[in-house]
Amino acid sequence: MTMDQQWDVVSGVGITALAVAAARAVETSRPDALIEDPYALRFVEAARAPAKLPTTEAEAAASDGREYWSEAATYVAVRTRAFDDHFRRAAEVGVTQVVLLASGLDTRAFRLPWPEDAVVYEIDQPLVLDFKLRVLREHGATAGGAHRPVGADLREDWPAALEAAGFDRARPTAWLAEGLLPYLPPEAEERLFQEIHRLSAPGSRLAVEDFGNMSAALADNAADDSVRTLGVNVLDLIHTGQRPTPAARLTGLGWNVHDVPATRAATEYGRPLSPKFAERDGHYVFAHRS
Ligand SMILES: C[S@@+](CC[C@H](N)C(=O)[O-])C[C@H]1O[C@@H](n2cnc3c(N)ncnc32)[C@H](O)[C@@H]1O
Repeated sequence: MTMDQQWDVVSGVGITALAVAAARAVETSRPDALIEDPYALRFVEAARAPAKLPTTEAEAAASDGREYWSEAATYVAVRTRAFDDHFRRAAEVGVTQVVLLASGLDTRAFRLPWPEDAVVYEIDQPLVLDFKLRVLREHGATAGGAHRPVGADLREDWPAALEAAGFDRARPTAWLAEGLLPYLPPEAEERLFQEIHRLSAPGSRLAVEDFGNMSAALADNAADDSVRTLGVNVLDLIHTGQRPTPAARLTGLGWNVHDVPATRAATEYGRPLSPKFAERDGHYVFAHRS
């Protein structure tokens, strides 16, 4: 194992998982919450983050990065809800083998109402998953279906680790890649899509967050903002440069693609995005393999 494979939830790219948990905790505290994640607050409490992260609307409003946190919580709420709905739709048509790629502190295995035959695999770094499972255990969380964490690096041979954990490539799968793509080098991203395709039986579904215009996202002193709000420079964590969009990659692989702008999803859920998040032009891509 190389050094950069060993991040946890307060180091390297792992801290972005904790930031997303903070955003979900803030959303959960709102009266009009789109999602309820009772464990998000617990993760932030249990971690020793380099900067204090808010867990309520009041803390977000009082924090140093107050605009950032309030707007980010709304963005994360919309995206979380959009992908919760992806899994609800998949379960309705009997697709109950689930793979969360780079699951971070995602608690869907514990908070969504899974059918009995559901099997939820989660892939992320071992230390991230260890932290998550320890906190969930301490708070008595139980998974709805079978829950199979897979500690693996998505730049390496993650399909072997997934299959070793019991993944059945003959069974249709509902996949998710949320909050992931910019953290992967371009060649690892390309392989990721090829491997998903190779492992997907007909009837499989995939939801992907397309981060949209990263240069807009990185304008407005993003480095200073992230150091102030997270204690790390987010620019050190991401890979920039042109890549095919997830929609283009999936269309090229023969999947049926439904591409939803984040702004539209947000409006439909009654929670419009702030101009700063809207101009990033993120998309939620829902694809289906027939
Ligand atoms: C922004 S967080 C998103 C977590 C989760 N999907 C969510 O939305 O709450 C990014 C996650 O990607 C994971 N990650 C990034 N690169 C990875 C890699 N090469 N292998 C495994 N996990 C990776 C990090 O550990 C982190 O948990």
